[in-house]
Amino acid sequence: MLPQEFIYQLKQANPIEQVMGSYVQLIRAGSLLKCNCPFHSEKTPSCVVYADTQDPHFYCFGCHAGGDVISFIRQIEGIGYMDAVRMLAERAGMTVPSQSQDNREENMRMRLLELNRAAANYYYKQLTGPDKRGLMYLKERALRPDIIKKYGLGFAGDKWDGLLNAMQQLGFTETELLAANLCGRSQKTNNLYDKFRNRVIFPIIDLRGNVIAFGGRTIEKGGEPKYLNSSDTPVFKKGRNLFSMNFAKKSQSKRLILAEGYMDVIAVHQAGFENVVASLGTALTPDQCRLMRQYADEVVISYDSDAAGQNATVKAVNLLRAVGLRPRILHMHDAKDPDEYIKKFGAPYFRKLLEDADDALTYELKRCRDGTDPASEDGTITALHKAVNVLAGIENELDRNVYLSRVAKDYDINPEILKSQVEREIRKRRAGAKKLDWQRRITAPMLRDPVNPDATQHHAEAKAEEQILCYLFRQPDALESVLARIKPEEFVTAFHRKVYEKLAELLPQGYDFSLSLFSGEDFTPDETGRIAGIPAKYEEIEINPRTVEDCIRTLKQKPMQDVNIENLSDDEASAFFAQLRQNKR
Ligand code: GTP
Ligand code: MN
Repeated sequence: MLPQEFIYQLKQANPIEQVMGSYVQLIRAGSLLKCNCPFHSEKTPSCVVYADTQDPHFYCFGCHAGGDVISFIRQIEGIGYMDAVRMLAERAGMTVPSQSQDNREENMRMRLLELNRAAANYYYKQLTGPDKRGLMYLKERALRPDIIKKYGLGFAGDKWDGLLNAMQQLGFTETELLAANLCGRSQKTNNLYDKFRNRVIFPIIDLRGNVIAFGGRTIEKGGEPKYLNSSDTPVFKKGRNLFSMNFAKKSQSKRLILAEGYMDVIAVHQAGFENVVASLGTALTPDQCRLMRQYADEVVISYDSDAAGQNATVKAVNLLRAVGLRPRILHMHDAKDPDEYIKKFGAPYFRKLLEDADDALTYELKRCRDGTDPASEDGTITALHKAVNVLAGIENELDRNVYLSRVAKDYDINPEILKSQVEREIRKRRAGAKKLDWQRRITAPMLRDPVNPDATQHHAEAKAEEQILCYLFRQPDALESVLARIKPEEFVTAFHRKVYEKLAELLPQGYDFSLSLFSGEDFTPDETGRIAGIPAKYEEIEINPRTVEDCIRTLKQKPMQDVNIENLSDDEASAFFAQLRQNKR
């Protein structure tokens, strides 16, 4: 956390009414300042700026946005806490003190990147060392020397401590080797050992050229696992990176080729198509799709031709569509994957495959025939029913009709009949969607409190907690005595517990109470807004020590969920119900 003194000075130098006034028009209403809330659309102002209080803040009674000047900037600029602090500091000509915590993490990341680079170098040198099995393997798989060099492929030999020794000689520590996931610790000997052994190594390189992780393929027949991938580390999140994106990006193509594995990518790249990537040892993720979307409009899915590959293709189609990428599907015959196809038929034929790749709808319509016998009536009918479902999913009417007449022709049936079937399916879906929407609306007020989801189940407790918090906001000095009677872990709802814990953590350290205690990185803007709303909600309501006593009692009673009525004796049950009635009052 930043020093309290700095935050205090920062807020002094950035009066909330001045800062907010540069984004919205403030209107004076008596002693208050108001404005049309910038966080939701409204015609009469319901956003109040409490500028002249000890703890200047704003709160919108309409959408419950709120907080101090820092959280205002966070929300209106859509930036993180530290960026908001930096922005305000700049506005006031102040310097943000450096954070030792931040620096330590940053230093660790830097060290891991250095270690990864040194390791990649080590593995690369091993290729041409005395043990030539890695190089032989890559040659057998028909990789050219220039490609091996370009991808920085390497080799991990048979020794348990080859990398370990080399890296320790360079000054890297055990902690660093473990954090980078390059070594493991043996349970038996308690010593470190190399994770990658008897494998060819594929360094994974990010868009800035950092080596962030490794994949390794066994060179032994039947070696298990076939591929070993780094798990997540401080410098690597699997689902957010794509193998070979660093090269694909440079190709400047608006079309990317998406393959399943490292070897496919490298083979396709070697064949002259540098716009190829693969997800890393996981199914494709939405993050990876968004990454592709930054560079491309279209993605040709070139997964394996086996059933697993085809199922993965269907999933990828939906994920790619969801981010606005146009999926196309490559169709391979007589080869299991792109690597094998190129080896068998050569680059020109692979180019032809790329050109002939189906758009996703054509692919889905073709798949309707899978597993059905086109010669039989039964098979045709089954396939047609599936096709009706695909057609009904096409939103645009014109597009739908184009595909519809094609299907009618393919199956040699009357287009009008097909059309009426598709339209019936569309009506059915709309009715279904309406019903779902209706159900959601009925249950919504019960279900939803995104900031404090527990509150719906524990309404009375949430209210009691809120009042205790409000009391403490007004009288921070009472914290010690309240804490003596109720511990944070006795709070029932997670969100209020978090707020109470923060108070219990910071006030004893000498922090003065202010809403800024809750605008740091531990709280989302929605949460900060909710907290700012607590004093606003109870503005005209007295909360005295007796109220707090009642609230504490409410919380100390066993929550209903924990009681299984069936197991209670008659006496216990009637006591329980009496208690319930009392709670209600
Ligand atoms: P080759 O047999 O070397 O041609 O592999 P391939 O590229 O044909 O690989 P395959 O289709 O078997 O797998 C595709 C991708 O899935 C690989 O590149 C890996 O990322 C991943 N993968 C395959 N096998 C394993 C495994 O045993 N463990 C893990 N974690 N990932 C694997
Ligand atoms: Mn393969």
